[in-house]
Amino acid sequence: MHAVDFTTTPRDLRAVAIMKDFDMSKRDGTPRSALVTGGNSGIGLAVAQGLGQKGYKVWIAGRSAEKGAAAVARLRPHTPAGVEFLPLDVTLFADIEKFVSALRPQLGGRLDALVHSTGALNAKRVVSADGLEGSWATQFLGRYLLTEAFTPELASADDGRVVFVSAQPPKNPRLFEDDPSLEKNYTIMRAISQAQSASALYEQMYAAEHPDGPAINGANAGVVANTGIGRAQPALLRMTSKAMSAAFGISPEQSAKNIVALASDPALEGVSGYCFPKPQNLQKRRKLAYSEEHLASLRRVLAKYATTKSKLLSA
Ligand SMILES: NC(=O)c1ccc[n+]([C@@H]2O[C@H](COP(=O)([O-])OP(=O)(O)OC[C@H]3O[C@@H](n4cnc5c(N)ncnc54)[C@H](OP(=O)(O)O)[C@@H]3O)[C@@H](O)[C@H]2O)c1
Repeated sequence: MHAVDFTTTPRDLRAVAIMKDFDMSKRDGTPRSALVTGGNSGIGLAVAQGLGQKGYKVWIAGRSAEKGAAAVARLRPHTPAGVEFLPLDVTLFADIEKFVSALRPQLGGRLDALVHSTGALNAKRVVSADGLEGSWATQFLGRYLLTEAFTPELASADDGRVVFVSAQPPKNPRLFEDDPSLEKNYTIMRAISQAQSASALYEQMYAAEHPDGPAINGANAGVVANTGIGRAQPALLRMTSKAMSAAFGISPEQSAKNIVALASDPALEGVSGYCFPKPQNLQKRRKLAYSEEHLASLRRVLAKYATTKSKLLSA
């Protein structure tokens, strides 16, 4: 008969499981690395925890240093390879540049996973000092610029991954080419739809431009309870969506399941250019296949940011 070791607690077993994942996540003896933008709250925080538990060294980014410090404290027990917060406001070009210059030397030339979970939903139009509207900057433009900036590091990883956390991609994408910050005709639905359109088009374009990686995919977060996304809504709408998500929504951890897998699961190596419409179900996936006309529209928008992109690549 085997002796039972009563000194092994569930906590020990959890630690052993984390250490097993930790060893598997190493490459060339060093831990894999992940940047989670929007990682100090909601879905991004749950993703950072999931990747930390898999042994990734994790950087999280967001505007609030206070929220960042609280998130680091919460993540530390789950991230044996380490977790750090770096401030970032994606509505300001200079801030993005400062962020890239601060993080790049810490990466040592390699980034294994980049997950974008920044987001702002503003009932009234909010613009930054650089003239960028909040949804456009957080749900697309900032993500685009950071992905391009870190593509050299992602390409140096043997299996670099990019994941955009989003909603369902639209059937008919629409960009307001001459006014992406919606100065003339802002509505929250228009802002969401444009950011989702640009993201899905970019994911398709990036996957086609990088057939050997980095891989890129879009994951629908689902309806998620207990996140901060509704904070800028009018009180009534905020209360209604809070009640709806509490009744029918999933937790940030449930929403993070697909996203963590897309960022790290070896079984998904080479999967790129897809949207995953069902949280927690990786079998459901759709290859993004928008028309050349739509892609050309995004290319024209992106051409306006060519100088910013080159600056970031040399930051
Ligand atoms: N919750 C849902 O039901 C749901 C459904 C579909 C899609 N999504 C999408 O999932 C993503 C994550 O949302 P969530 O629900 O987890 O909301 P959340 O808790 O509010 O997270 C949003 C994150 O974005 C960061 N952020 C906001 N503005 C920023 C800026 N200007 N620069 C840099 N970071 C900024 C926030 O940090 P700071 O405030 O510190 O900057 C925060 O970490 C969003 O893109 C959202 O649209 C959510």
